[in-house]
Amino acid sequence: MDEKDTSNFPIGGSAQERGYSHVPECYVLPTVQRPSQQSETVNVPMIDLSLLHQSPLEKSQTIVDIGEACRRTGFFQIINHGISESVMDGALASAKDFFDLPMEGKTEFMSNDIYKPVRYSTSLKDGVDKVQFWRVFLKHYAHPLEDWIGSWPHNPSRYREEMGSYAIQVRKVAIELMGAITESLGLGPTCMHEEIKDGMQVMAVNCYPPCPQPELALGLPPHSDYSCITILLQSCTGLQIVGYEDSEWRVVPQIKGALEVHVGDHFEVLSNGLYKSVVHRVTLNSVQSRLSVASLHSLGIDVKMASAGELVNEHNPKGYRESSFSDFLNFLTDNDLTEGRSFLETLKIKQ
Ligand code: OGA
Ligand code: NI
Repeated sequence: MDEKDTSNFPIGGSAQERGYSHVPECYVLPTVQRPSQQSETVNVPMIDLSLLHQSPLEKSQTIVDIGEACRRTGFFQIINHGISESVMDGALASAKDFFDLPMEGKTEFMSNDIYKPVRYSTSLKDGVDKVQFWRVFLKHYAHPLEDWIGSWPHNPSRYREEMGSYAIQVRKVAIELMGAITESLGLGPTCMHEEIKDGMQVMAVNCYPPCPQPELALGLPPHSDYSCITILLQSCTGLQIVGYEDSEWRVVPQIKGALEVHVGDHFEVLSNGLYKSVVHRVTLNSVQSRLSVASLHSLGIDVKMASAGELVNEHNPKGYRESSFSDFLNFLTDNDLTEGRSFLETLKIKQ
């Protein structure tokens, strides 16, 4: 087998899909970037979303708690979010069925064109970045669902229905959360409501196959999401974030029924730096495939996110340039994320 061949186009599929017994050179990280195999678990703030519908006191306390989590960690988990376990399980099961299809069932979606609304690929930028990542993924736009679902996979037959119902329900939760977050910033629950309601939902359906040498490679490199917020559903642990007390990588626990929420770059910009876009990465294991569904919520493709005027003053001067989702895609085209420059860095205004 040709180990230099990282493209997902050969008949046999990518290295991850071929069941290699070792990690080919192109996936091997420089020593300092390799993941420790004994990371501790991070203490994640837990938010009970049902409290947003209880007494005014409980609601306002929950909004304070959400704001506190966005400020301290840029990350929290939610329970009682209203999405049933059968809907979440259905999304993960239909994702698994898609990845389990023989190669012929997936080739029609294969593309390395990051501007495509539906595509199947591997790594981050397949075959382009210096180091490759041990991931296969299907990315698709999801809102408005009726505009996109027709171009999602029709096989497995349950995919559209099951991923579609999760998409609709997770978006409802995301809209509610984004309102709570803008409220926690003192911008009111309807700040940017129209832009958010007409915004984009991109779903990254990820599969990280078992890796024969998980200490040498990563599923995804350290990055923050470009979104306002991301809601993540995962089948088992593997996600890590940098601890907020120190700079150690910590494992995000997997709590049955809970979903993870990340503050993305665009909400760090809106908050003028009060809230932190969380840096995260994905580690691998040698035993089982890990599946995740990341739902990224942002404004419309060309709608620019700017720091809220209310949060800019002489003590807190404007810290970020405006940007849109398409600005992010253009950045991704021209940059190798593994070389260390992040999209968010390019937005920061040096004071
Ligand atoms: C992503 C991401 C995490 C995961 O798709 O941006 O960070 O656990 N995914 O798959
Ligand atoms: Ni991410």
